[in-house]
Amino acid sequence: MPDPTSQDPVVAPGVDATKPSVARVYDAFLGGKDNYECDRAVVRQILEIAPELPDWTRENRRWLARVVEWLTREARLTQFLDLGSGLPTAQNTHQLAQQINPAAKVVYVDNDPAVIAHGRALLLDNDNTFFVPADFTEPEKLLADPIVTGNLDPGRPIGMIQALVLHHLEDYDQTRELVRTYVEALPSGSFLAISHACNPRDGSEAARLSTDLEAKFHERFPSLRFRTPAEITAFFDGLELLDPGVVRLYDWWPPGVVLEESPAAGLRAGAGQILYCGLARKP
Ligand SMILES: C[S@@+](CC[C@H](N)C(=O)[O-])C[C@H]1O[C@@H](n2cnc3c(N)ncnc32)[C@H](O)[C@@H]1O
Repeated sequence: MPDPTSQDPVVAPGVDATKPSVARVYDAFLGGKDNYECDRAVVRQILEIAPELPDWTRENRRWLARVVEWLTREARLTQFLDLGSGLPTAQNTHQLAQQINPAAKVVYVDNDPAVIAHGRALLLDNDNTFFVPADFTEPEKLLADPIVTGNLDPGRPIGMIQALVLHHLEDYDQTRELVRTYVEALPSGSFLAISHACNPRDGSEAARLSTDLEAKFHERFPSLRFRTPAEITAFFDGLELLDPGVVRLYDWWPPGVVLEESPAAGLRAGAGQILYCGLARKP
């Protein structure tokens, strides 16, 4: 019999509500409802180290919106592949793209059971939105999936989104190879958007905070790896990186937008470099 006083959502098949999951902890940071007490316990521990992390995760969603809207409106992309898409929240990739071009197609990929349950529901109400329950570290298998091949036209540019996902892969060289495999498969004129946890590893206050955060996350998610701006930039090798390059999420604005002051100006010293991002075009 479910406890009527519990704040927890009903447990979907395959979901282990006793063990935190990356997707649900992230949902809790964003203020979502698809998480359990074990996920919120991780969030509370992280907040002790970096109370600004919820702001960074919300900025990640705002950055995603800036990217998808620019790609749809200005670069005229009509199809997107969003790897590690996460639990639905406000303003998901398909909503952002389809409010500009209702015919834009979006294929989401995730392997978390809670996300898969939501992904299936999503298919019921939108003809141009698709979900593949898959591990994105198997690119050949994923790219051959009938949902991908049947809905993304290989003759037209694709917007590939890897938002806050690559830092879940432990080995740097393998992660670079994975990104390279995806980029090779993309048609010319496609774009790659990446956001990623950062540790400048330069002895600064920001580096100390990132090292503490990494250590705390490792207690639950041992494969998580923060990377330096140079390491994150190297994921874009062979691509044309758009201005302003690989920068803090708060500092990435689409071409033509110039801000007088960085929105990150108010962050406390040391908490200003937690998440980096970039957008690049395949020649
Ligand atoms: C931090 S969330 C980011 C969600 C979304 N991309 C965003 O930026 O708002 C990371 C997501 O990646 C998914 N993920 C992690 N490793 C994955 C893998 N190997 N295959 C598929 N999904 C994965 C998790 O389940 C989770 O939903």
